[in-house]
Amino acid sequence: MSDNTPVYLDNHSTTRVDPDVLESMIPWFTDHYGNAGSGTHVMGTAARDAVELARQRVADAVGATTREIIFTSGATESVNLAIAGAVSRQPSGQCVVAETEHVAVLDVVDQLERQGLSVRRVPVTAKDTEAPGALDLDLLDEIVGSGTTLVSIMFANNEIGTVHPISAIADIVHSHGALLHVDCAQAIGNCLIDVTEMGADLASFSAHKCHGPKGVGALYVRRQQRIVRINPQVFGGGQERGLRSGTLNVPGLVGMGRACELASKRLDVSAKHMTTLRGKFWNLLVDAIPGIRLNGPPLDSGVRLPNNLNVLIPGIDGSTLLAELSRIGIAASAGSACSSEQPKPSHVLVALGLSEEEVRQSIRFGLSRMTTLTEIQLASERLQAAVQSLRIA
Ligand SMILES: Cc1ncc(COP(=O)(O)O)c(C=O)c1O
Repeated sequence: MSDNTPVYLDNHSTTRVDPDVLESMIPWFTDHYGNAGSGTHVMGTAARDAVELARQRVADAVGATTREIIFTSGATESVNLAIAGAVSRQPSGQCVVAETEHVAVLDVVDQLERQGLSVRRVPVTAKDTEAPGALDLDLLDEIVGSGTTLVSIMFANNEIGTVHPISAIADIVHSHGALLHVDCAQAIGNCLIDVTEMGADLASFSAHKCHGPKGVGALYVRRQQRIVRINPQVFGGGQERGLRSGTLNVPGLVGMGRACELASKRLDVSAKHMTTLRGKFWNLLVDAIPGIRLNGPPLDSGVRLPNNLNVLIPGIDGSTLLAELSRIGIAASAGSACSSEQPKPSHVLVALGLSEEEVRQSIRFGLSRMTTLTEIQLASERLQAAVQSLRIA
């Protein structure tokens, strides 16, 4: 690896498309470009069959059946369809979310609140607790109470990596007769997902977080044991059983199917690899950067994504550091890429009780199964050099 090759450590924002995934997609652009909705000729039926194989692969990767998978343009659209689609069936009910949800969840509930929906936002445990960023399940139980239609809790947080106990949350939510939506955007390829076992009624997925293409996603809508009903939010040709109209992105869906298949096949090896490298990276940083602190749950707590590292470097402004890191060849971020067009202090770190100054001193690294030891060593050297130069300046 040459000295100026960028080390990509922003895998919570997006991941590199696996070459195998890309290869699976190409024929669906070049040779088999039919519309999956065109049943009158072989080009259309071939595309439809490819979409159905992708649906099977996604369903297998998340513990669902094919009839429970609705394809969308990504996790943002899936989340919007799940939440707006569920609450529109019972608009007088309450909706409950965690304060640390992704903006895809927070912004749709804000919008629905402006239209009259009652929304409760559940706080998380603070920075000085055993596992910062966790939910107090007794408090959740109290808040969900009666009259709640829908609860939306993320499987794993995209900034500090907290993994929530979804089965226990599902028991609470169902004991009050509400539905549970789980935002699983950060989970595929990093954690074992079984939507049926975890008790989700609705679950959102994104292909580009697990080495698949951007702009493709899926929504799981439960049909086993009980049928969950939601209202469509996009109208037109009636694709996806009427729940999401619009011509299907055949190459993208083929890529998502292959990415999910590879992610679940390689899960054990990948999770171990990322945990080991993340531990090495943290140890190198602790040795090299005096005063560095971890944001979020301990690395060995068992409730943190294996690829997540979020650190606070006292005395260093995070955005100045990120610019310097970008110059010397490290891609990292301050928090959610999805909101980086409107830079605001991270609502997740604020929810943990970090001061404004501490939030500004924090940066997030995300590893992937493709990250190498050489990259981690190079990144820690570059980070150390950047911090030293900024501390001197
Ligand atoms: C937890 C979470 N939910 C939803 C999204 C949105 O996903 P997409 O980019 O597929 O719309 C993201 C993307 O960062 C995410 O991390």
